Amino acid sequence: VSRKPLVAGNWKMNFDHIEATYFVQKLAWILRDAHFSYRNCEVMLMPPFTSIRSVQVLIESDRLKLSYGAQYVSVTNQGAFTGDVSADMLAALGCSYVLVGHSERRKYHPEDDANIVDQVRAVLAAGMKPILCVGESFEERRQGIELEYAVGQVHDVTRDLSDQQASELVIAYEPVWAIGSGMVATPQIAQQAASAIRSHLRSEYDDNVADRVRILYGGSVNPSNASELMASGRDIDGFLVGGAALDAEQFATIARLT
Ligand code: G3H
Repeated sequence: VSRKPLVAGNWKMNFDHIEATYFVQKLAWILRDAHFSYRNCEVMLMPPFTSIRSVQVLIESDRLKLSYGAQYVSVTNQGAFTGDVSADMLAALGCSYVLVGHSERRKYHPEDDANIVDQVRAVLAAGMKPILCVGESFEERRQGIELEYAVGQVHDVTRDLSDQQASELVIAYEPVWAIGSGMVATPQIAQQAASAIRSHLRSEYDDNVADRVRILYGGSVNPSNASELMASGRDIDGFLVGGAALDAEQFATIARLT
């Protein structure tokens, strides 16, 4: 089964629209270098809302082979919801993906499973792909329940989705203890979690869904650990990158190694 690997750069709350423009120009310059072959994988950027339009204009005008998406979406489609941004608005900006349930959103905003399910549905209804983030904290790992925990998070969000909807998902396994900490998961840990998630999809849905869903690893990925993580087994289909995605050289190198 061949799944096109995906390297997604989550900028979090970094880069205004001018900095975003510089970044994309620099990244495009690196990726265009004939010796820099990254053509195996899809490279994707997730800017803050205020920078998406600038990224879109550059990508479209220079015909860059980059995808982009958003870090969050409202569960409602329009109306009196001050501060919210709808899935249709993101789709109209050419977004292909939306991050859903990132641990920072779960922690700093009241996003529970019901809300995350609604976000997934809103993203799918607008024709985009949700990147569902799951992963245990250090406490669950200490208790030895990390796999049940991460698989349980997948189950809680996907259980009412149709086969067709589930097959559109990207799942990012991001152990909370590895995010921004420099403590990257070992390749074995990452592969074991990705494999448990894929087995769950196989038992809840079917081979088609399990084989189509891309599973990413996220948490302190950088150019020196990306190859080893990719080589860890057949269930990891790329990365969700935070810190290293703010440096065009590092991000491009991760794409090349994926
Ligand atoms: O969305 C990205 C993740 O939270 C990983 O962040 O690469 O800075 O650890 P990090």
